[in-house]
Amino acid sequence: MRNLLDPTDLTIDEINQIIDLALDIISHREKYSEACKGSKLATLFYEPSTRTRLSFTAAMMELGGNVIGFSDANSSSASKGETVADTVRVLSCFADIIAMRHPKEGAPMVATQYATVPVINAGDGGHSHPTQTLTDLLTIKREKDRFDNLTVGFCGDLKFGRTVHSLIKALRRYKNVKFILISPDELKLPDYIKYDVFGEKIQFEETHSLEEAMPKLDVLYMTRIQKERFDSEEAYNRLKNSFILNTDKLLTAKKDMIILHPLPRVNEITYEVDNDPRACYFRQVENGKFVRMALIYTLLKWKKEGCTATNNHQIIEGTPCRYSRCISSIEPVKHLYKLSENGIYRCIYCEGPLENR
Ligand code: NCD
Repeated sequence: MRNLLDPTDLTIDEINQIIDLALDIISHREKYSEACKGSKLATLFYEPSTRTRLSFTAAMMELGGNVIGFSDANSSSASKGETVADTVRVLSCFADIIAMRHPKEGAPMVATQYATVPVINAGDGGHSHPTQTLTDLLTIKREKDRFDNLTVGFCGDLKFGRTVHSLIKALRRYKNVKFILISPDELKLPDYIKYDVFGEKIQFEETHSLEEAMPKLDVLYMTRIQKERFDSEEAYNRLKNSFILNTDKLLTAKKDMIILHPLPRVNEITYEVDNDPRACYFRQVENGKFVRMALIYTLLKWKKEGCTATNNHQIIEGTPCRYSRCISSIEPVKHLYKLSENGIYRCIYCEGPLENR
């Protein structure tokens, strides 16, 4: 069975297949109106969401399927102390496919160890968000018609921004993509991406200045400072106004640059920018529904065909992960580590390094 926990669970060909299917859905909506008739999607959302949950719901409804689930951990048995493992075992009896969002990193990975139906990661803590990545890729495809030869600027909270982590993992596989990472020092990209994902071959620069990066960019990916992931309110208040994109700052941008944002926005893009034709973030939201339709349809089809994933990672058991945001800190799981491309063993749940070896 195939799940989607990380964008790299899909090959480039499979991503292209899902994007092509999304494009076909956009042009022939009627053809897919009963494509998942009789199937149920369960949305297990332990963390707030507007777009992602409703876009999964709308996607399944437009495929003729049904949706069950919860949008708040307090209204589920999690509030009585039920583990993710047990909730997922139960939901596998009711649904054909699960989309899960959880504040702990790696929770959807735990779900895959117990579910008997495909699991989609709809955002796990500050770690990954692969369906936002598919959304972003479909938007880039529709707006720029290519993934190669792009200079992409990521601006804002690159430390906790899970959409950034996942999109970088996806884009680094294309040819001649350059990355410009624009953030304050405290919100720089985590080391596991800088060293393991980028490695030696990928070109990237880090800067504090959006103005300096602007003229070079083909894609500007703005993000919100992730207030809920900060340990101190003081640190959030100090960093919350780090970058504000306004029409003046866009004067030096390329005429065909595109501005993406996973939304919700707080104050990092002023409202006047919305009228600029380069602002794509509301078109991006709609793409999210179409690409989730394509993903649900594909995972259910693969399930029927008995398609399995090829996993070449070397896995070992180790000491408990020391990262408090990792799901392994609260669920009774095996402490497993996979060998990264750079020769470092990383926790399979949160990608933190194995210590005390
Ligand atoms: C993002 C998320 O949840 O990570 N939102 C989304 O899914 N569109 C970005 C964010 O919350 O800032």
